[in-house]
Parts: sequence; structure tokens; C-alpha cells
Amino acid sequence: MKSFAVIAALGAVVAPVFAKGNLPVVSVRGNAFFAGNNRFYVRGVAYQPGGASDAKDPLLDIENLRRDVANFKSLGINTIRIYTIDNSKNHDEGMKMLDDAGIYLALDANTPKYSLNRESASTLARSYNDVYLQNVFATIDAFADYNNLLLLFSGNEVINERNNTIAAPYIKAVTRDMKQYISNRKGRKIPVGYSAADVAENIEAQALYFNCGSDDARSDFFAFNDYSWCDPSSFTRSGWDKKVETYSDYSKPIFLSEFGCITNTREWGEIAALYSTNMTSVYSGGLAYEYTVEPNGYGIVQVGRDGKITPNADFDRLKAAYSRTNNPTGNGGFKENGSASQCPEESDEWEVSSAALPALPRRAQAFMSNGPGNAPGLAGLGSHFEGEASSGTATAGSGQATRTPTGGAGATGSAGSSTGAAAGLDIPVRFVGAIAASFFFGAVLIF
Ligand SMILES: *[C@@H]1O[C@H](CO)[C@@H](O)[C@H](O)[C@H]1NC(C)=O
Ligand SMILES: *[C@@H]1O[C@H](CO)[C@@H](O)[C@H](O)[C@H]1NC(C)=O
Ligand SMILES: *[C@@H]1O[C@H](CO)[C@@H](O)[C@H](O)[C@H]1NC(C)=O
Repeated sequence: MKSFAVIAALGAVVAPVFAKGNLPVVSVRGNAFFAGNNRFYVRGVAYQPGGASDAKDPLLDIENLRRDVANFKSLGINTIRIYTIDNSKNHDEGMKMLDDAGIYLALDANTPKYSLNRESASTLARSYNDVYLQNVFATIDAFADYNNLLLLFSGNEVINERNNTIAAPYIKAVTRDMKQYISNRKGRKIPVGYSAADVAENIEAQALYFNCGSDDARSDFFAFNDYSWCDPSSFTRSGWDKKVETYSDYSKPIFLSEFGCITNTREWGEIAALYSTNMTSVYSGGLAYEYTVEPNGYGIVQVGRDGKITPNADFDRLKAAYSRTNNPTGNGGFKENGSASQCPEESDEWEVSSAALPALPRRAQAFMSNGPGNAPGLAGLGSHFEGEASSGTATAGSGQATRTPTGGAGATGSAGSSTGAAAGLDIPVRFVGAIAASFFFGAVLIF
């Protein structure tokens, strides 16, 4: 990809200006994702070889990534989800490989050591601190320039029981902070939202809560993990028809951040339903769980002792399911003009009494203007009991950004639209001149 090489070379000179990659940026419009003028459906697989507990950054293992990208292409997917990356490292090579293959990245901004600690009310409050946010913002810095960064998860299954919904205000505060950080400092809006566990008692309250109240803290999408379709099943037998009804008025994109029940042999019947107009007015696809076979038994490729991988029968069936299922034509019945949800009432299943959120921790305020300064990476010591916690309640709207990024739908890594993105970054005129000059200079050097 020639333009990538040019852009990457220039990136060394004026790093934040240039979007890297050829894939069109995906943005949110109403309750759907769009790549330019085309509705975008997540057709993907969760990708974390080695599992989540001792997580390694799969984008840095270039040899294995090349092998796996060939399989992603063969599966016909357009997205992978990665749960843990090392934000202290450069990801140009791995992200370019994905971009070349037409694949976007859905990325978790948390790692096991840098996350909210849901053990109790006091660990939750303690773990929402500046050291945690520093790591989150460093992850945004490490990936924001890649056009094929699809979205960021502000949390993953933090609420996993009926009795820990008290985590919700902290998750929402992190979502608010990430959105503000991106708007204040990046060239385009990157969708930010939460990936929920499908806890029957409170999942709907979660969806409403993350989309209610002041705009600064409403998430850009809602995703949940759903293992309720166990083949043989159907749109009605799985209960997915009821879920479409439940969320029919929801004003933000919804997609499945994990699916793929293994109770019986997987025929992946849910793929046909998920990308049919039965669902696409509400849902925007999902991510099959997961790529490699780990101890929990969900994978579609077996990793041998020698590191060689063998796709299993599940891989073949998933590939067949994707290949016989096209996206709907047109816009899939999306809704453009929805409004914020009503915040859910406090109840036994929803222990959140108001829309109030914790304020940005005092020491994290400087990150909004100066950046995080340091990327701890996977060797970092962790954040649960570090730094300084939030000291009070935020006033509604306090996370409002001070600027609006201009790069959006339709922005690509091509020279023309990079100039557009650059204009949005308030770059002094002399730099704009330097960029134009070095673009041609760079092009001459490379080709
Ligand atoms: C929630 O309930 C589980 C049992 O289902 C229990 O182990 C856990 O300690 C409870 N958590 C809180 C925060 O009360
Ligand atoms: C769509 O819904 C109808 C009515 O429930 C059902 O008969 C049909 O099989 C569904 N289509 C898919 C692809 O699941
Ligand atoms: C949404 O609202 C805009 C502006 O009011 C309008 O032009 C557009 O047609 C509406 N879209 C839909 C899908 O109703």
C-alpha cells in the first residue's frame, strides 16, 4: 500500500497529523456505523492468542499475525477484537497488515492490571484514579492515528452479577473521560462504548444508563456478550426477536461484542439472523468468540506445541456461515434521529440512585491538555491502588470537550483528506507548508 508508506514516513515528522491506512474511517450516525456513505456491520472474531489472563500483545508477534491474517481473510471477516495490547510499543507494522487485509480493530482500553477493581464499593472508588486513566489515554495515543481503529471499549464485563451494578458510574466516567480526551486531542472522533456481560437482570438498565443524561458522558455505542443462541436455534427460539423489540428505540449502535454458544455443535445459525433485516434496524453485527482454542474451549483454530495452527471444523462452519450471509442492501433500516434514553430507576437490580458521576481525578486533568506523558505498557505495575482517586461528584456536562475533531466519515489515509484532517488540528500555517513539501519529498524518496 503505497500511500501508507508515504503517510507513515511523514508520520515521523508530524506524528499526530496523519491518519495511517487506506480503509475508510468508521463513524457513528444515528444507531448505526458508517464507512463513508455505506452502513458498516461488524463481522468479526475475538483475537487474543494465549487467552486474556496472561495476555500478550498479538499485534507485536508479526510472524504469527501474518499467518492469522491469512485466516481472517479466508473467513471473510472485517474486524478483530483485541483485549490487551502493549501501549508502550509501536504498532505500525501489525496495523498495516490488518489494513491491507481490509480488517478493522475493536480494542479494549483496559488490561487486567489497569482497570476498575469491582471487588467492593471502596476498591471501585480507589481504582478510578489518574494512574489508570494515564494508561487508558496512552492506549488512545498509541492507536488513534490508525484509520482502521474501529472503536474503543471503555470497559469489559465489569458488571458481571446482579449485585455489582454500583460499578456503572465509574464505567460511565471512564467513557466520558475517553471521549473528552479524544475530542480534545485527536484528529477524528473514535467511537467509545462499553462491552457488557449479558446479565439478564440488569442488561437493559445498563444499555439505558450508558445512553442517558448529559451528552458528554453518553457512550457512542452499546455492545454486549450474548451466548443465548445455542444451535439448533432460531430468531424466535433464541429470544433474539424479543431483544430487537427491547432495543427498538435505542438511539446508538448495538452489536455483540462476543457470541458463539458451544453447548451443542456450532452451526453458526445466528450469523444469518444477525445480518438479516430482522435485526439490522437495531443491531450492527458482532464478534464470534474466539480465534484460538484456549482452555475454555471456544476457539476455531488449534495451536500446536510447535506453534503451528490448524483450523478446526468450527472454523470451516463459521467461514461457510459468513460466506452465505451478505449484509442487507441499502441502510438496513437504521434510525438516524433517535434521542437519549431515560436513566433507569433505582431498584434491587439496579443500585444506582442518580445520574451523578465521579469527577475526573484531579491529577488526570493535565492529561487533557498535555497528554499522558508516559505509556506503562504490559510491564507496568498496575493501577488499582495507585495514584489519587476522584475526590468528588462531577457537574453534569463537565466532560464536554473544548474542540471538535473534523476528521470523520469519509476521511481516509489519502493525501487529500489528510489535509482535511490536518486543518482540524489547528496546526500553525508553517507546518502545513512543511507537510505539503515533505509529502512530495517523501513520495520521491520512497518510489
Ligand atoms: C455478589 O454476589 C456474589 C454471589 O453471587 C458474592 O460472591 C459477592 O460477594 C457479591 N458481591 C457484592 C459486591 O456484594
Ligand atoms: C426472520 O424472522 C422471521 C419471523 O420470525 C423468521 O421466520 C425468519 O426465519 C427470520 N430470518 C432469519 C434469517 O433468521
Ligand atoms: C433526521 O433528521 C434530519 C434533520 O432534521 C433529516 O434531514 C433526516 O431526513 C432525518 N433522517 C431520518 C432517517 O429520518
